[in-house]
Amino acid sequence: MSIDGASRYAQAYAGWKTDPSAFWAEAARGIDWARPPQAIFDADAGVYGRWFPDAVGNVCHNALDRHVAAGRGDQAALIYDSPVTGTKRTLTYGEMLKETATLAAVLQDMGVGKGDRVLVYMPMVPEAICAMLACARIGAIHSVVFGGFAAKELATRIEDAEPKVILAASCGIEPNRVVPYKPLLDLAISMSAVKPERCLVLQRTHGPGALVEGRDLDWQVAVDAAAAAGKGAPCADMLATDPLYILYTSGTTGKPKGVVRDTGGYMVALDWSMKNLYGIKPGEVFWTASDIGWVVGHSYIVYAPLILGATTLVYEGKPVGTPDAGAFWRVIEEHGVVALFTAPTALRAIKKEDPDCLLKQGRDLSRFRTLFLAGERADPDTVVWAQEQLKVPVVDHWWQTETGWAIAANPVGLGLLPIKLGSPTVPMPGYDVQIVDEASKPVPAGTMGSIVVKLPLPPGCLPTLWQQDDRFAESYLAEFPGYYKTADAGFLDDDGYVFVMGRTDDIINVAGHRLSTGGMEEVLASHPDVAECAVIGVKDELKGEVPCGFVVLKAGERRAPDVIEKELVGLVRDRIGPVAAFKLAVTVNRLPKTRSGKILRGTMKKIADHDPWTVPATIDDAGVLEEIEGVLKERGIA
Ligand code: COA
Ligand code: AMP
Repeated sequence: MSIDGASRYAQAYAGWKTDPSAFWAEAARGIDWARPPQAIFDADAGVYGRWFPDAVGNVCHNALDRHVAAGRGDQAALIYDSPVTGTKRTLTYGEMLKETATLAAVLQDMGVGKGDRVLVYMPMVPEAICAMLACARIGAIHSVVFGGFAAKELATRIEDAEPKVILAASCGIEPNRVVPYKPLLDLAISMSAVKPERCLVLQRTHGPGALVEGRDLDWQVAVDAAAAAGKGAPCADMLATDPLYILYTSGTTGKPKGVVRDTGGYMVALDWSMKNLYGIKPGEVFWTASDIGWVVGHSYIVYAPLILGATTLVYEGKPVGTPDAGAFWRVIEEHGVVALFTAPTALRAIKKEDPDCLLKQGRDLSRFRTLFLAGERADPDTVVWAQEQLKVPVVDHWWQTETGWAIAANPVGLGLLPIKLGSPTVPMPGYDVQIVDEASKPVPAGTMGSIVVKLPLPPGCLPTLWQQDDRFAESYLAEFPGYYKTADAGFLDDDGYVFVMGRTDDIINVAGHRLSTGGMEEVLASHPDVAECAVIGVKDELKGEVPCGFVVLKAGERRAPDVIEKELVGLVRDRIGPVAAFKLAVTVNRLPKTRSGKILRGTMKKIADHDPWTVPATIDDAGVLEEIEGVLKERGIA
């Protein structure tokens, strides 16, 4: 009930604000430490301070070993449901521990030890989750790369992380095609100046890959041999401040940012969130329909549910088309899911195909309690539709790759607060969320501004970027001294509810995937016929936003614009990957600019989105905007 919820939330938040160390010391009791924390926060360490600087523990131990030791070895740890391969499999905590310890021994045999990086390039299969845990077990730092990225993006990550070993699957399976990962991986390695010593390849029957002699090993052969030899690696003692993983995310340039996650703070934050935010109990089935390539997958497919002792559902499929828009309801019923976490775009996809949710009829969803949404703004239409169809609370929450868990949410575990459409509700303990103007001054309630978080960030959030403390400080901490810049804009209302309205940088959100328009512009600009370009995100009913590239072609003799536009679409797919969903390249004579030469992307976006627009006073030549509107109308975009 909301009154109880409101007071329990208010109590938790005020408790944290009054004494953050006591709050996080209490939360840290949910973790099984090899050496429990004596110091909770060291303000002098790291870029803005470090959490639990003297504690020692292991994430894999907390996710697997301790549950087996507590007698829950026969409980399901992971349910794999793969409509794209027609496979279902359940792994108990006991089985998962065995598989993970064996794989960890294989990694050790390949020379991987504490602090070494291991790149994981795998789809949603149980082995991928074991791979991440196996790295955590021996103190190796994993870096998972999403399968929808092209070889060039993979190569960039290999060069930055310098992995000793790469763990890969031979292919991923999309509803319309098999995606051969192995040739992409080989190409990426050939492009990269840094080469891994070894690759361990999981051969899938849908598309096995050719192994490179002397470098590649067959996963199953290596694991079977290690198991036959009775090998199993123990958990390494890790400092709470040791990195657990690096996860690359889009920045404002084509060069991705390597977000670093630590060991101890992350465990504490995830454990707290499962209980108090998601309201999940050990043994319950929790389903995050995302991908391990994203932060949502790291935190809520892999680590949080297992640290809590819940059962995580690993779904290799889509909301629609595998085989239909009833797939989510089938999975919830069949596996007794109590909470689903997905992106609004997935619901929009279902709503588009089955607006009255006819495919849900006859399904027993009686155990299903809550739907959680994140990854992009939860538009009120989608939230209302889901509330009406599912008759459970639909909880929006807001977070970023950088934070690792929610900045603002409706803490179901403490008691649901009244839902306000369009708002991810209230700041979680640990986050002092403020709205400021350009001079870093707080603005009154209801006024839009930059959303910032007062330092220090709570446990679980990034301490830095991989080997780039300066870039971290410059990108996130310099603009608003004393605060972390979220790069989102929005406002707080009179009740302290947060409203997140959009980014302040050039990041766009396509089907819940975060992409840099700057990165796409770099690709377009590399085409020999392109003189100038600008990429903006335009509204899309299904994906929220899709990229649209405006190009000015070089003067002189060249091929027809429509031929070049097709090449540009292909180029972005080849360099960034299909996930960019770049399908619109539009040739224009000129780009609208201010007198100082800045491209007026904001106004172009308004025109493309059919939003009211005015001619900015600073524009160099107002006629260009009308030209752009004309071209977009011709193409059926504006
Ligand atoms: N490996 C290889 N290719 C992939 C891939 C993967 N893991 N994931 C996606 N792709 C490809 C798709 O096949 C598609 O290729 P295409 O252009 O040849 O059709 C392209 O990347 C775009 O994929 P996607 O954005 O998933 O669009 P879609 O049209 O295939 O599906 C949705 C639309 C809404 C069903 C889908 O985006 C979805 O399920 N979204 C949920 C979002 C989500 O989980 N976000 C994570 C943050 S919570
Ligand atoms: P990512 O790092 O991929 O998780 O993307 C983070 C960005 O997605 C945020 O900075 C927001 O711009 C957007 N985002 C995520 N969740 C929400 C939400 N619930 N409401 C509004 N925007 C969101």
